[in-house]
Parts: sequence; C-alpha cells; structure tokens
Amino acid sequence: MEKADIGIIGGTGVYDSGLFSDKKEVKVHTPYGEPSDLITIGEYAGRKVAFLPRHGRGHRIPPHRINFRANIWALKQLGVKRIIAPSAVGSLGFDYKPGHVALPDQFIDFTKKREYTFYDGGQVAHVSMADPFCPEIRDVAAKVIEKLKFPFQPRATYVCIEGPRFSTRAESKFFRDVMKADIIGMTLVPEVTLAREAEICYLSVATVTDYDVWAEIPVTSKEIIETLHKNVEKTKKLVAELIPAVPMERAKCACGNALEGSLL
Ligand code: ADE
Repeated sequence: MEKADIGIIGGTGVYDSGLFSDKKEVKVHTPYGEPSDLITIGEYAGRKVAFLPRHGRGHRIPPHRINFRANIWALKQLGVKRIIAPSAVGSLGFDYKPGHVALPDQFIDFTKKREYTFYDGGQVAHVSMADPFCPEIRDVAAKVIEKLKFPFQPRATYVCIEGPRFSTRAESKFFRDVMKADIIGMTLVPEVTLAREAEICYLSVATVTDYDVWAEIPVTSKEIIETLHKNVEKTKKLVAELIPAVPMERAKCACGNALEGSLL
C-alpha cells in the first residue's frame, strides 16, 4: 500500500492537485463504504502527499452526501498525519471580504443528519473539541499567507449548515448577530471532528466567495464564479507553499494523542 504524510481534501473548484511528480491513483476500501473518489498519491517538495477531491471529480457529491467517515478513514489508512482542507465559504461580516482567505479557529455545528463518529457503539469515545484545529499548522499557514501577501483573516468562527440549500435571511442574521459566526459553509463538520478522532491534525483554509444573504447585497452567479476561480488559484499557490513548510514531526500539537483520556 502507498503511504503519504500530508492529505489535501480539495474543495469546490479544487479537483486535482496539479502539483505532484510520480503520481499514482489508489482506490481505498473502508468499513464505511467508498471515499469521494480515487486518491492521488504523489511527491511534492520532498513530501509524500495524498489528494482527495471532497465532492468527487466533476463535483458529483453534494455536501450532505459526502461520505466523511470513508474519506478520513482512507487518509488515515494511507498514513496521513496532517490534513490541509480548502473550502469555499460565505461571509457573515464585512471584515471577511470575497477573495479573503480565513483560517478558522472555531466552529459552530448546524448540520442535522450526518455520520459524526467512528465510535458508534462498542467502544465509546468523547474527544475534546475545545480547539478543533491544529495550532501548529495554523501558525505555519498564517506565516505562509502573510509571505504571499494574500488578503487574510487569521481567525474565524465557521458555522456549518446542512445544505444543500443556502440560508434564509433570518437564519443568516441569526448566525451573524446572535451566534457571532464569521463565515458559513456546508462541509467542515464532521470532516474536522472525524480527523480529531483519527488523531490527524486538521487545517481549514476557507476562501470567501460571497456575502451571505444578511448583507442584502445582490450578487450575480457570474460574480461568485469569478471570485471562486480567483480563490482556486490562490488556494493552489497557498497549498504549494504550505506543503514544504509543514513540519514533519508533530512537536507542538496534541492532535496525535487526541484519544488519550477520551476512550471510556
Ligand atoms: N459556501 C459558499 N458560500 C456559502 C454560503 N453563502 N452559505 C453556505 N455555504 C457557502
């Protein structure tokens, strides 16, 4: 079986890594069924990297149908220790402008019916989710983004909704004004929580495509698609710089020991 250290879960518009030399596609079987697609394993900047498009190639799988357990299980099986996870999000505040990159540090879960855990009976686990994202790769990513001079928000609270529909104006205002969330998307949960259960470091790289409907700013789909394309280019540059910058040893985070004290 091929092995990899870093996993990339490509978001909307990011369907291939385009980076690797010596690449190989692998089909990974899991107890939870099929991952979103074949996984491409290759080398980049001396690192072994596995790439999986979250929605499948050609964007076939809607957010509520993504087999998150199979995706994370498959990456774990390949030896992945750290996941870099780009995604497109909407903005809930004028500080988070279309085209900005944000590194979420918290999330609020408004999903409704997903498979949330690998510990579904038999063995019971309650993992800590106080700080859901790996602090070490967040710091590294912030430095890389600053170097690239991308417009950037170093922190954000991400509210994850069930989708596939967008929010009503009342919901959007509730997420912004009552819950104080900064950005909104449909795919973070349970990807991030399953990564924690699998003791894999997880970094969310959120790129803002639109102001959500609270802002009452009419946007055309042409504008959203233009921003999305620009964001995809930014994300690819960022991932390319980030891969060699991620430390091989996990010295400054506890993600690798997340189950310690969590199993009953
Ligand atoms: N993904 C991108 N924009 C979004 C929005 N406004 N709401 C939910 N998910 C999104």
